[in-house]
Amino acid sequence: MSRTSLSVVTDSVTARAPSKVNLHLGVGPRRDDGYHDLVTVFQALSLHDDVRVARANELSVAVRGEGAGSVPADASNLAARAVQALADWAERSGHIAIEIEKTIPVAGGMAGGSADAAGALVALAHLWKLEISRDELAEIAADLGSDVPFALHGNTALGTGRGEQLMQVLSRGEFHWVLALAREGLSTPAVYKELDRLRETRSGDAGDSDLLRRPDDLMQALAAGDPRAVAPLLHNDLQPAALSLQPTLRRTLRAGVDSGALNGIVSGSGPTCAFLCADEQSAVNVAAELSGAGVARAVRTASGPAPGTRVLGVD
Ligand code: C5P
Repeated sequence: MSRTSLSVVTDSVTARAPSKVNLHLGVGPRRDDGYHDLVTVFQALSLHDDVRVARANELSVAVRGEGAGSVPADASNLAARAVQALADWAERSGHIAIEIEKTIPVAGGMAGGSADAAGALVALAHLWKLEISRDELAEIAADLGSDVPFALHGNTALGTGRGEQLMQVLSRGEFHWVLALAREGLSTPAVYKELDRLRETRSGDAGDSDLLRRPDDLMQALAAGDPRAVAPLLHNDLQPAALSLQPTLRRTLRAGVDSGALNGIVSGSGPTCAFLCADEQSAVNVAAELSGAGVARAVRTASGPAPGTRVLGVD
């Protein structure tokens, strides 16, 4: 008699991990370790990557989909590093075949690499039936990258420290976004470096006291679920640095607002531009108009908040 039971061997597991946009990104001065303290409000978006892990004779990585050609398909891939980190934790060999199906833009400021790492952690923990607490998984995630804990967590959260310390933020309803994907990516360290340079050359610096202020007004607007109240409060300290490195993004931001978005912002370190819209229909209209304006390589719609990384299927 054949029946499913706890002893069934799982050969592969697929996990889905969300992208993110920072609704508020306050960046403190550069720390001695090279990082910057942040106060940020993340929102996870429905644009996602799927990561499949399967038992194998060696570690391998295959990448398909959006920007696959520019993602390393070797041990340096963040998903492969996640597998190795979890294998070390579990004291097992990391002989795993990883397949990544990308829809999150590469080097786009939407935490695509972090999503792949989070996907690999969740899928592998499930494949190996590990008894690992959320806190332990989040600790491994934080070592892999500042945005990986949020990719695990999803929804809407306040991030502090490097962005890895998270607190759930109440967010009512669904927010509708249009994303303008740029032709060229931006390197996150380069954008932080440009911010430091701009701050050094800025005369009459207002000082650092206000940089890490908690955005209480934004959090109230999120709790009320009101996109019209959220829109004017979108803020990103990295935006001037991203615009300095890719000046054409100014035109993209203007085109999105001219197309009917409530407001537009560079997502994280960019260069993806994210436009908050009044509702789903408005997002469809903005996306169509923005596509026609020729200011982006591709245009996508997405909604948030999306759930954190979760198991999608088991074979
Ligand atoms: O943590 P992660 O590896 O994603 O960070 C990539 C780079 O982004 C860091 O090496 C650093 O240059 C910059 N960064 C930063 N401050 C943060 C997060 C990232 O300076 N809070």
